[in-house]
Amino acid sequence: MKINIAIDGPSASGKSTIAKRLAKALGYVHIDTGAMYRCVAYLAIKSNIDLSDEKSLGKMAETMDIELSTDGRVFLDQEDVTEAIRNEDISVGASKVSIYANVRRAMVKRQQKMAEAKGFIVDGRDIGTVVLPDAELKIFQTASATSRAKRRYKENLQKGIHSDFELLKNEIEQRDFQDTHRKESPLKKADDAIEIDTSDMTVEQVVSKIISLISERSKFYD
Ligand code: DC
Repeated sequence: MKINIAIDGPSASGKSTIAKRLAKALGYVHIDTGAMYRCVAYLAIKSNIDLSDEKSLGKMAETMDIELSTDGRVFLDQEDVTEAIRNEDISVGASKVSIYANVRRAMVKRQQKMAEAKGFIVDGRDIGTVVLPDAELKIFQTASATSRAKRRYKENLQKGIHSDFELLKNEIEQRDFQDTHRKESPLKKADDAIEIDTSDMTVEQVVSKIISLISERSKFYD
């Protein structure tokens, strides 16, 4: 039987990459909840809504249309924003808007609806603690700030973007601080989550470790 898998962890720890690979290998559906908070920031900036205007952000989060397609594309009010939501301004903006309770409530409601059935791999910060507290398998994926900054630096180089390594590392540390210290659903390992430190692991190693955890766990629910 298919189960639901929650993958939480800090920024740039490779959760989406791993979740995508797992979904493909196992025929599961991936839900990237970070992309949804990015959509909130993107639309707020586009609509000239101040990123500290909690009330307007909450209203917008209730009514905006977000669609995550099974091939990984993200649509916001029918506009394909898959690439547009990945830039640094939106990363910083998403971290800011995700502190608000009414923004989170609107997103959590959508996420719970999306993963009502089984067979979902959901990645984010509060999946194992708030969104899917009953997920059959919970992973807390971490990596040191240095190794996450190195990965981001390499990714940028491959895309032809030159970046400053120290700046990238600082931004990652700042976002970690913001995500772990906010009042609403701070990033926190669920008590029953399995922690995987991926600092010295390849993507393939992480994927195969989680696949074996999934097949072990699925046996309980057959
Ligand atoms: O995973 P990501 O970097 O794309 O997420 C963008 C921001 O959204 C990040 O700063 C934290 C926030 N986020 C959140 O608060 N809860 C989630 N479930 C997913 C992301």
